[in-house]
Amino acid sequence: MIRQDTRKVEFGDFQTPDELASQAVRLLATRKIAPATIVEPTCGRGSFLVAALKQFPHSGAAIGLEIQPDYFKVAHERVMSLHCSQRVDMRQADFFRFDWSKIFAEAPEPLLVIGNPPWVTASQLGALESGNLPRKSNFQNHRGLDAVTGKSNFDIAEWMLIHLLEWLKGREAVLAMLVKTSVARKVLCHAWKQGWPLVEAAIYAIDAGRFFGVSADAGLLVCRVGKGQSVTRCGIYDLDSPETLRQSLAFHNGWLLSDWDAFERHQVLLRGPHHASLYRSRSGVKHDCSKVMELTRNPGGLMNGHGQIVTVEPDYLYPILKGSAVANGRKKRASKYMLVTQTQTGDPTNVIRTAAPNTWTYLTIHSKELDGRGSSIYRTRPRFCVFGIGEYTFSPWKVAICGLYKRLEFSVIGPRDGKPVVVDDTVYFLSCQSKEEADLLAVLLDTPEAREFLASFIFWDAKRPITAEILGRLDMEALAKMHGKLARLMTLTKRTTAMKAQPRLL
Ligand SMILES: C[S@@+](CC[C@H](N)C(=O)[O-])C[C@H]1O[C@@H](n2cnc3c(N)ncnc32)[C@H](O)[C@@H]1O
Repeated sequence: MIRQDTRKVEFGDFQTPDELASQAVRLLATRKIAPATIVEPTCGRGSFLVAALKQFPHSGAAIGLEIQPDYFKVAHERVMSLHCSQRVDMRQADFFRFDWSKIFAEAPEPLLVIGNPPWVTASQLGALESGNLPRKSNFQNHRGLDAVTGKSNFDIAEWMLIHLLEWLKGREAVLAMLVKTSVARKVLCHAWKQGWPLVEAAIYAIDAGRFFGVSADAGLLVCRVGKGQSVTRCGIYDLDSPETLRQSLAFHNGWLLSDWDAFERHQVLLRGPHHASLYRSRSGVKHDCSKVMELTRNPGGLMNGHGQIVTVEPDYLYPILKGSAVANGRKKRASKYMLVTQTQTGDPTNVIRTAAPNTWTYLTIHSKELDGRGSSIYRTRPRFCVFGIGEYTFSPWKVAICGLYKRLEFSVIGPRDGKPVVVDDTVYFLSCQSKEEADLLAVLLDTPEAREFLASFIFWDAKRPITAEILGRLDMEALAKMHGKLARLMTLTKRTTAMKAQPRLL
């Protein structure tokens, strides 16, 4: 049983129900796709291969490949029962050891490469010590070893689709693959960044829970390559109502937009590349050692994550709001604190020894954990340093949002016990000097225009849907102007419109 489960993970094994494969090929037929060659590169039990052979009886050739012998046998028998064996080349083989560029170069056009590639990531394969990986997995700047050790990660389907598109270059072909939507996006983004001409791109969303029993956004990615005008948009539809456009992804300015129409409607809010805005979105403090650096006040005193009571001076101690508290509006909780050992990234930390001897002793006692922080960012920096630190960290008021949560809700955070509240590195914020300024920004950020503009860049199924970069694309002054609040904003920031050229950039 365990072995079976392991194999399922290793081969990313989610066999497509026949009903879904038939629906997908019917859709392709309505899109005027009439292949001369059908290719199913990881055909499993053959549902796509069989459906495509039935839907396109005039295709001259078909190739089906599958690594697992049991599935290969089933697929082979199913294909043989269609009585078209003379045009089908079935191989039990490994996708990664197959010369696809040669096959594609020799196959009659147009080609249809169709299927449902494995649903597994490089780090899952690494954990299983599986060899079901591309031989050279130096991919998208992830070194193979990093992927295997889990330091960096990518979906095997992403690797397969990107390489299939590369091998199809110069040919008339359609790639139609069932994948997670996040994989589809990465493949499209890669193709667009590389300038590969896609003459058509669409995603037809499916209910992955219903068909595969998994909770993931997934769909049929359809990309046409070959002659024709290239596109940088990709319509999103539901496979069940393929005529109704939900929204369009787009590649613009080197960015992938989730909703082109919303972006176009609110383009006026886009911060120009050289526009020095009053505000710059910042992220919270990163320390990678919460057990030591974060303390909770309870009746016995300050306690660290090891459950030890700690004696430190107040000098380096700041109230903290974690991302979950920001997201859930629990702004009043005053019990958590963070040791912030610097005010700028380059600050020496050994001054703590004399400025706050108890704090220094505490850090030294836990030096093994702090010195052992894995990230390379700590290596050449002062001992016990933190990251994401600057004047902005200590601004008294902040308008903040947690990057991990799936809602565009900003919170106003004010000082506590006379000290600025700091946030962790899952939180992004704009710095403000007064409550009035923060309240005004929060109101502006809650307008439909700001929400739609920001949402046009956000992919809600991403691990961290909201980023400082996305927030930084919004021109706060343009937003204030749109709502007749620019003069008020300038007054609150003690600036005049003429002074805008020297931004405060907190
Ligand atoms: C998500 S399943 C889909 C199967 C089939 N395409 C379908 O739509 O039903 C992925 C398939 O890829 C096969 N597979 C995994 N790694 C492979 C490899 N290296 N070469 C060929 N097939 C592979 C698995 O055995 C499995 O049948």
